Amino acid sequence: MLDGYGAVLSLRAAGTSLVLDTAGRVPRVLHWGADPGPLDDAAAEALRETGGPAVLNNSPDVPRTFSLLPSEFEGWAGTPAQEGHAAGTATTPRPRTEAVRHRSDGEHGGTIEIDLADEITGLRTTMTIALDRFGVLSVDATLVRDASLAGDGATIPYTLDALRVMLPVPERAVDILDFTGKWCRERAPQRGRLFYGSHVRRARRGKPGHDAPFLVVAGTEDLGFGRGEAWATHLAWSGDGEYLVERLTEGAGAFSAVLGAGEGLRPGEIALADGDRYVAPTALFVWSDSGLDGLADRLHRRLRARPTHPQSPRPLTLNSWEAVYFDHDLARLTALVERAARVGAERFVLDDGWFHGRREDNAGLGDWFVDRTVWPDGLSPLVDLVRSHGMQFGIWFEPEMVNLDSDLAREHPDWVLGPRQELGATARAQYVLDLTRPDAYAHVLEQISAVVDEYAVDYIKWDHNRDLSEAVSGYVGVDRPAVHEQTLALYRMLDTLRARHPHLEIETCSGGGGRVDLGILERTDRVWASDCNDPVERLQIERWTRMLLPPELIGSHLGAERSHTTSRRTDLSFRLIVALTAHAGIEWDLQEADEDELDRIARWAGVYRELRGLIHSGRIVNADLADEATAFTGIVAQDGSRAVYTWARLVTSAPGQSGRVRFPGLDPDTRYSVRVRNEFGQASRHQAADPAWITAALQPEGVTLPGSVLAVAGVPLPTLNPQQAMLFDLVRLA
Ligand code: DGJ
Repeated sequence: MLDGYGAVLSLRAAGTSLVLDTAGRVPRVLHWGADPGPLDDAAAEALRETGGPAVLNNSPDVPRTFSLLPSEFEGWAGTPAQEGHAAGTATTPRPRTEAVRHRSDGEHGGTIEIDLADEITGLRTTMTIALDRFGVLSVDATLVRDASLAGDGATIPYTLDALRVMLPVPERAVDILDFTGKWCRERAPQRGRLFYGSHVRRARRGKPGHDAPFLVVAGTEDLGFGRGEAWATHLAWSGDGEYLVERLTEGAGAFSAVLGAGEGLRPGEIALADGDRYVAPTALFVWSDSGLDGLADRLHRRLRARPTHPQSPRPLTLNSWEAVYFDHDLARLTALVERAARVGAERFVLDDGWFHGRREDNAGLGDWFVDRTVWPDGLSPLVDLVRSHGMQFGIWFEPEMVNLDSDLAREHPDWVLGPRQELGATARAQYVLDLTRPDAYAHVLEQISAVVDEYAVDYIKWDHNRDLSEAVSGYVGVDRPAVHEQTLALYRMLDTLRARHPHLEIETCSGGGGRVDLGILERTDRVWASDCNDPVERLQIERWTRMLLPPELIGSHLGAERSHTTSRRTDLSFRLIVALTAHAGIEWDLQEADEDELDRIARWAGVYRELRGLIHSGRIVNADLADEATAFTGIVAQDGSRAVYTWARLVTSAPGQSGRVRFPGLDPDTRYSVRVRNEFGQASRHQAADPAWITAALQPEGVTLPGSVLAVAGVPLPTLNPQQAMLFDLVRLA
């Protein structure tokens, strides 16, 4: 570690860089974006010299600074980085740098650590800014109360109201893209102008929510999947959160706007007495000049490089939920397991309904032991059958929840999270269990662990079906906000289970995709992206979920012909293609499938096994198409040797022809064998005949085309009927 105090420091990796000036009271960003290359002394000095804005009329008499902890002291009149007080005092933070440590890995990133001390708030802050080798920045901040800094004032605990990480973005970032949604329609994009003022997105549900901002992007006007410049942030946290894009007329230092994120804190939730510490969730920042796919590529590479990233082939999964719901009948489930085996499933997951008192969705949560009325011999008969077919066994829990109609709630009514005076409304007939209580926490942990041990469970589907509202804990005798501690308890429980059961995989589910964030993904292996298996909806949900997560982390299941959540009917071939390009599975009562359908599903399972190595390691590319009724998404092997593309049409549209559509991500200087994979069905077309080259690509031997034609000129694609898709399989030729 070099002491870098006072210097211009840069972190560089994969074509991006962050440059900080550490000479001022608090370091400030001189540049975040494209890598200007190694900075010699003259260039570093020039960046510093040009790092200050004009002194405007009717403004502070010194140039405004926008530092890493922007405050009013610096003339920043926007949202402050830190808000809080000590009983109404210490409201104007003035941190000052005490030490800077810089570790550079050359062109492969590095770390800058900054220690700051604040005599007004009596807080010591450490910020750690790391750029990984893929160009993703992470910012971690820790506050420690140190009474000796502030004299008398620091004997009163400091109430932290907010700690935000904010980075500046340049004037060409004129658009904002982020996400919203609802149950069964997660990650719906919304895009608009970056106007003056604050675009603030809050998650106040005790989880990111179905409407989570997910990834907040500031971008250039031309931003698309494969074009434009973008700056984005994601908060790796599963509790309350806040995202911000803000633009003041005076700018932000030498920049124009800011992009930030931080935990959402409830009043009084964090009170720091002398020696107490607050660790903020990691905020990630990523820049790309190759569009949204460029952002996703950096994030995917980062995730795939984690030691905990799933390495084994992602097993084709059959989940019992939409097949049997609460009808846990051994004969019925036996038939389902047999059919799962027949089509080639590799993991069988027993969903909700197996535990004590759980005959419908209004009872049982909290009693995590097998219901002997429906399972007189325990789960062994089923588990043994599953294993006899060589499948893994998975099971559903909703550990953070409780029904009042449960042994647990009857014995421990005070374990329910909520005001002691009177509980608010139930949601899905349930409340939240107060896991900040050591007794409640231990009870649930041991019950789960016992089931995992008894049945050698391979996989848990970890559900969470309601918002945390009025989430106060009375454990310490008074009701105190508890989302922060509840989230940490969840993390602790997941970490403990994984340590105890090293082979256990866990899926994060929250009524579908209501808790998809990189905090929980540090401790889970898959997300259930949505309760909606309707491929029309799912295609869009997953396309945007992939902005953050690579396909191997996204569960996608083949549902019934008539979707259980939208009532829409779709063809099997379309459903199969949409479920293929993820961690694939089945969520359908296969007893309803006829022999032909079972054969097609089995062939699809074979294609999944054949292609999953590519799907689960390749680079995601999306074509920017004028016709929004269509989508063209590819997954290209990192070495370019193979690729799959999905050409899909959701609804009809005016154009009769696709025109020449380019295959993004291919090498123009080589040739490809292109084949349409139609083993599991044909897409129905809205045309008299395919473009001639498609006719050739439909043959088993495929057609050979130059990369320049596919990637640069483009090729006409068939005009599909609505709710149809076609899968292209490309192999690079020597
Ligand atoms: C909500 C989940 O998203 C579903 O997949 C299913 O597990 C149900 N809960 C079970 O209650």
